[in-house]
Amino acid sequence: MKIHQAGSHLSEDRGGAVQDWSWRRTRRRIGLLARLTLPYRGRTALALATLLAYTLVALAPPYLAKLAIDEGIDDANLGRLTWIVVLFLASAVAALFLSSANTYLTGWTGERVLADLRNKLFRHLERLSMGFYERNRAGAIVSRITNDVEALDQLVTDGVTSLVQNTLLLGGTAVVLFLLDWRLALATLTVLPPMALATAWFRHRSNRAYRNVRERLGLVTATLAEDISGMRVVQSFTREPVQERAFHGVNGRYRDANYETTVLNAIYFPAVDLLSSAATAIVFGYGGWLVYHGDMSAGTLFAFALYLSNFFDPIQQLSQLYNTFLAAIAALDKIVGVLDEEPQVVDAPGATALPRIEGHVRFDDVRFGYGPEFPEVLHGLELDIPAGTTVALVGQTGAGKSTIAKLLARFYDPTEGQIEIDGHDLRDVTQHSLRRQLGIVPQEGFLFGGTVSENIAFARPDAAPAEIAAAAEAVGAHRFILELEEGYETQLGERGTRLSLGQRQLVAFARALLADPRILILDEATSSVDIGTERQIEQALRKLLAGRTAFVIAHRLSTIRDADLIVVLEHGRVVEQGTHEELLVRRGLYTRLYGDWAADVA
Ligand SMILES: Nc1ncnc2c1ncn2[C@@H]1O[C@H](COP(=O)(O)OP(=O)(O)O)[C@@H](O)[C@H]1O
Ligand SMILES: [Mg+2]
Repeated sequence: MKIHQAGSHLSEDRGGAVQDWSWRRTRRRIGLLARLTLPYRGRTALALATLLAYTLVALAPPYLAKLAIDEGIDDANLGRLTWIVVLFLASAVAALFLSSANTYLTGWTGERVLADLRNKLFRHLERLSMGFYERNRAGAIVSRITNDVEALDQLVTDGVTSLVQNTLLLGGTAVVLFLLDWRLALATLTVLPPMALATAWFRHRSNRAYRNVRERLGLVTATLAEDISGMRVVQSFTREPVQERAFHGVNGRYRDANYETTVLNAIYFPAVDLLSSAATAIVFGYGGWLVYHGDMSAGTLFAFALYLSNFFDPIQQLSQLYNTFLAAIAALDKIVGVLDEEPQVVDAPGATALPRIEGHVRFDDVRFGYGPEFPEVLHGLELDIPAGTTVALVGQTGAGKSTIAKLLARFYDPTEGQIEIDGHDLRDVTQHSLRRQLGIVPQEGFLFGGTVSENIAFARPDAAPAEIAAAAEAVGAHRFILELEEGYETQLGERGTRLSLGQRQLVAFARALLADPRILILDEATSSVDIGTERQIEQALRKLLAGRTAFVIAHRLSTIRDADLIVVLEHGRVVEQGTHEELLVRRGLYTRLYGDWAADVA
């Protein structure tokens, strides 16, 4: 079973794809970063200024050392030497302040930019439609906001500083070397061609290696998230060894990717060291010969040796940085990929707020499939539900009942035909105004960590404690809530694991009640409570539902029998509708289903 290889639409699995450097892509990347930095442009400019100043100051010490040797020591000019030492110290102090200021400013803006990015991603995720969440693994989405933003963090906080500083240092040092002595500079730079070759090879290889690292890290996170939330199922089917092997698999591939980068580093960086030693050897060999023949001062030779480390350190650091940079670009692309995801359901331009509804629901020749790659689920569905009706949707599993509920809440739009409430096409009204008037209780009401009362008041955080208790009382949840250690203030733990499934469901009911919806949709909502509780909920709902429309998807005969209208679905089509008695007379699908239920009760 290939549970962990499930393909995702997020770019996590596109192993080995070459990074896209098209102009459009690049502009999109820069555009995003620029937009995020814009609010902090003052500090960003200041950070750059301190960086430039710091780099200039950092170029001074070797030259001062040369002056100290040539003009202070050799000429035995103590006054001059004192001045040079003072300047040397001054530049060190200036470097300290500038470097400090730069680190602070870069960190300050960088962290704000990234926090803004996380907020922006979260806001965007909230806008995305149900389809996105059914296509993508939760862990992969989490990985975008955590791992990928973290990868950007490394670039933003250290990377940019290091990039600018090392590039300037490298260029500045090259210029100074030529100014000091062009012959020695030329001789030294003969190590550059092999260095360039080694660097090109390293960049090419690490480009691929680091992309693998990112992709495989995403897989590790996604696998972990899925297994943790499904641990109960894993344990109950004793799938631990299988899941463990699968995890070892993704973890092993992540390790291999990291291992490859280690090997590359182990080859490249010592090679750079060797070349830098070779350059030093040239400086002392050829430079010493020049000094011996009186063609160059000892101070210049000394300065040259010092500048050389200024030259090779940046090369190493830039190569190192290249990895950070690649990782950040790969992460940025994944983030942009999420931000580019358009919600499939959007408010039409000029969408109006749906006024307070009566609850007349009409499905007019509705066709729907979950996407081009899936078969059609509803084939020209016709439904006309007068306001205030309690409709029971019945049919075998997979008949399309939940799909109808999702369409009514406009989590998806029909591919053809239309859905109207009180004559308003759902596509012409805002999603907010529609959903605010709907109450949906799914099979497993999702509770959040927090207290019982926070969960009941989810749709109306301003509800008074008395209202919350009244809602709980109406669905028969009040008693068990009072028996919890802290009553309504009891913390429920993630997803309400503190409660039994049935109790969670009662809380979900109370939540829907308190929201006071105009249309209520119960999708197998009562299947996890006992019959007595179900009766109690139904009585509460009947009071509540007077004058409202309700869609009830249930399997229990007692619930269905009392509905004003029963709609029988088969393979996405309405095959029968009417009251319980009318349908029994027809001796059709309903009678057959009824036979099954009756047998079940007996
Ligand atoms: N997110 C989805 N993506 C693709 N197909 C789906 C999705 N959800 C449901 N389906 C398919 O649509 C059909 C109807 O499902 P559903 O409406 O959930 O049935 P039920 O009547 O049991 O509630 C099923 O064949 C199911 O496989
Ligand atoms: Mg269903």
